[in-house]
Amino acid sequence: MNENTLVAYFSRKGINFRVGSVEKGSAEILADMIADLLGTSEYEICTAEGYPDDLEECNRKAKQEHDENARPELRNALPDMSGFSNLVLVYPNWWGDLPMAVYTFLDGIRTEGLDIYPVCTHEDNGLAMTERILSQTYPKARIMKGVAIRGTLIQCDRNSTKDIVIKYLSDRGFIKK
Ligand SMILES: Cc1cc2nc3c(=O)[nH]c(=O)nc-3n(C[C@H](O)[C@H](O)[C@H](O)COP(=O)(O)O)c2cc1C
Repeated sequence: MNENTLVAYFSRKGINFRVGSVEKGSAEILADMIADLLGTSEYEICTAEGYPDDLEECNRKAKQEHDENARPELRNALPDMSGFSNLVLVYPNWWGDLPMAVYTFLDGIRTEGLDIYPVCTHEDNGLAMTERILSQTYPKARIMKGVAIRGTLIQCDRNSTKDIVIKYLSDRGFIKK
C-alpha cells in the first residue's frame, strides 16, 4: 500500500501562534515523520510568492486569499500522480479552512479514485470543516477520516506527536499494529 502513497504538505516557517519563531513548520515536521514511517516520497506545496514571516502580515495575506477564493501560483511543478492511489495531505488550519495553495495543488492533480487522508495542524479548532470542504470540492476523491494535532504539541513534544501519528496510520492500515 505504501508505495502507492504520496505525502503532500503545505507548511510555513517564521512566527506562529504560541510557538514563536520556528525554523521548521509544524506541518512539515508531520509530513517528514509520516514519509519516514511509511518510506514514501514527499511533495511540498509552496507558492511562488511565499508568505511573510511576520504573523500579522501573513494573517492578512492568507485572509485576503481566502476571501477571494484565490489559487496562488505554485513554485514547483506538480507531481505525476499516475503511480499513487493514496494521498496523505498535511496542512495547517488557516482561517478554519485549507491554505488556498492546497486548492491550487488539488485542482491541478488527478483526484479521481484518489483516497485522501487529511492531516491537519492547528492551534485551537482542529480540522474545522476541512474534511467536509474537501469532500464537497473534490467529489471524485474519497476523503478519509482525518486527524488534527496542535502546533504547540508538534513543536514541543515530538514523542507524543509521533504516538498520535503512528496510531492514525495504523488505524488506517498503513502500518501493521
Ligand atoms: C494565516 C493563519 C491562519 C490561521 N488560522 C487558524 C485557525 O483558524 N484555527 C486554528 O486553530 N489555527 C489557525 N492558525 C494556526 C495554525 O494552524 C497552526 O499554528 C499550525 O500549527 C501551523 O502549521 P505550520 O507551522 O506548518 O504552518 C493559523 C495560522 C496562520 C499563520
